[in-house]
Amino acid sequence: MQVAPSLLAADFLRLEKDVEMLNAASDIIHLDIMDGTFVPNLSFGFSVVEAVAKKASVPMDAHFMVVNPENWVKRCSELGIAMMSFHMEAAGRKTRKILRDIRSHGMKAGLAINPDVPVEKLFPLIGEADYFLIMSVFAGFGGQKFIYQSLDRVAALKAKLAARNDAALIEVDGGVSEENAAALQEAGADILVAGSSVFRSPSPAKVIASLRNPR
Ligand code: DX5
Ligand code: ZN
Repeated sequence: MQVAPSLLAADFLRLEKDVEMLNAASDIIHLDIMDGTFVPNLSFGFSVVEAVAKKASVPMDAHFMVVNPENWVKRCSELGIAMMSFHMEAAGRKTRKILRDIRSHGMKAGLAINPDVPVEKLFPLIGEADYFLIMSVFAGFGGQKFIYQSLDRVAALKAKLAARNDAALIEVDGGVSEENAAALQEAGADILVAGSSVFRSPSPAKVIASLRNPR
C-alpha cells in the first residue's frame, strides 16, 4: 500500500521540517482543503499549498471538502498537484464533468464519499476516476475514530472494480492507524491517508513504514 500522511495534523510552525520528513518517508502528501460550508471547519488554502509545493518532492494529493470544487481545478494543476479529489455529495450532477476536467488538466481524478453515502453510488462513475476516496470518518476534522463498517465498503468497491477490470485505486481516509491498516489492506485499500497516527507519534517515519507494510 501507499501512505499519504495528512498535513492537517502537522505542526504548522515547522511545516518545512515536516514536508522534508514526508519527502524522505512517505509516498504521497495529502492536503485537506475545507471551506467551512461543505464541512463545518476551515483548514488552509492555496498560500499553504503553494508553500508546500515548493518543497514537496513526492506527489501531492489535494482532498477538497468544499462546495464548487470545479473552481480550483486549474489552480491545482498550475501548482503541480498530482491528484485532486472532491466529494460527490458536493458536486452532485456535476461530478462526471469535474472528473473529466481534472483529468484533462493532467491530474489524477479522485472521487470521495462520506460514510453515509452508499458505496454503490460510485459504481456508475467507474471508468471516470483514477481513485476513489472512501472516508472512514465524516469529513471535517482530524483525530476521529475509525468507522469499522468502512472495511465492507472498501471490499465491495474492490470487488466491483475487479469485475469491471478497472485499475482505479482505493484511498481510505480518517482514523487510519497501525490498528486497522492490516484489515484495510485485506479489504483492498491501495492508499492510506493518516494524520494523527503519523504526526502524534514520536517517530512518524516508523509509523508510515508500518502502515505501508502492516503485517
Ligand atoms: C478529515 C480529513 C482527513 C484527516 C485525517 O476530514 O479528510 O484527511 O486529516 O486525519 P486522521 O488520520 O487524524 O483521522
Ligand atoms: Zn483528507
